[in-house]
Amino acid sequence: MKYNFDEIKDRHNTGAIKWAIMKHDNGFMPFSVADMEFAVAPEITEAIKKAADHGIYGYTEADESYFEALKGFMKRRHNFEIERDWLVFTDGVVPAISLAVNALTNEGDGVIIQTPVYTPFHNAIKLNNRKLVENRLVLKNGRYEMNFEELEALAKRDDVKLMILCSPHNPIGRVWERGELERVAKICLENDVIVIADEIHSDIVYEGHEHICFANIDSMKEHCIVCTAMSKTFNLAGLTCSNIIIPNAELRKRVNDKLQALGGFCVPYFARAAAITAFSKCDEWLDELIKYLKGNLDYLYNFIDEKLPQLKYSRSEGTYLAWIDFSGLSMSRQELEKFIFDDVQLSFCDGSQFDTRDNLYMRINVALPRQELKRAMEHLEKKINSL
Ligand SMILES: Cc1ncc(COP(=O)(O)O)c(C=O)c1O
Repeated sequence: MKYNFDEIKDRHNTGAIKWAIMKHDNGFMPFSVADMEFAVAPEITEAIKKAADHGIYGYTEADESYFEALKGFMKRRHNFEIERDWLVFTDGVVPAISLAVNALTNEGDGVIIQTPVYTPFHNAIKLNNRKLVENRLVLKNGRYEMNFEELEALAKRDDVKLMILCSPHNPIGRVWERGELERVAKICLENDVIVIADEIHSDIVYEGHEHICFANIDSMKEHCIVCTAMSKTFNLAGLTCSNIIIPNAELRKRVNDKLQALGGFCVPYFARAAAITAFSKCDEWLDELIKYLKGNLDYLYNFIDEKLPQLKYSRSEGTYLAWIDFSGLSMSRQELEKFIFDDVQLSFCDGSQFDTRDNLYMRINVALPRQELKRAMEHLEKKINSL
């Protein structure tokens, strides 16, 4: 390995949200918010330092250098050919989704999401006074699947105008296969449901699986919005810049008009510097990162198999998030929360926040040095064994 993902970085006093919200600051790293406990690629740090040395940090645009770097990355890694005028930039994928929900639907319209799913999807619908239309994922033989019959019935409803697809899916870690995406596309096209494909996790996909860009599904290009960013991939969430790809000119105008109505957005100066390097010079870092994360997930699943058979999981095919079923501990929701957050004192993500009903899952972010993951799992094992 050329890069060192074992290095322990202390993020106290950096404003890191994941560290600030820890209930107990007890020497264990947090496992919650989806950023990584790894330093970014040194090439990116250099690019930011060079930009800092310039000394003028004025209004900035995603210029030709930015576009060429992004275009090359999307072609190399996803076989997706983007055009410059398809792009809309926002300060994040979450704001972009909220913006698109606002721009493309009216109050009272239905928006489909596939639960359990990333909490801000629920908020983008409910807080904008749209109807949350739920198409629950189904666990079959330890792997999540979509319920296409239900999806079709929901898409046929007159009030349903939009679907937010999480691809790959947070928190359950599925990387949707071409056949699955084609079925979603067919249903949505036939019923005139526009799709927002949140592909923020698409660069972190493990061997044996392939991310298929939704806009690359036949005839879907003109009917969807693809949300991508460097934030998850290169650990740059704090630079707040995402690339929203909207090939259809009319959809793009509607989203752009809404963005302008809210004040518009300029690509941050340091985000531009980081993006050009990240998208053009950091493939090797990314490949090593993916291997390291796979090693962490394998470690976690093996540990559960060998030491904690009470817990169950469906293996993540992408993302650095593990979705773990604690129902084998035979606790109520409240008892589980108390056990994990007050007794074990590890800051996992409570699985219920992704759902419309209580569940007995925890989401564990494994993007941290392996020795820290091991330490926490051994601690969890002791606590479970002492029950
Ligand atoms: C599916 C998904 N979308 C969006 C985000 C966050 O996007 P952003 O920080 O660009 O708003 C996350 C972060 O966890 C995520 O998991």
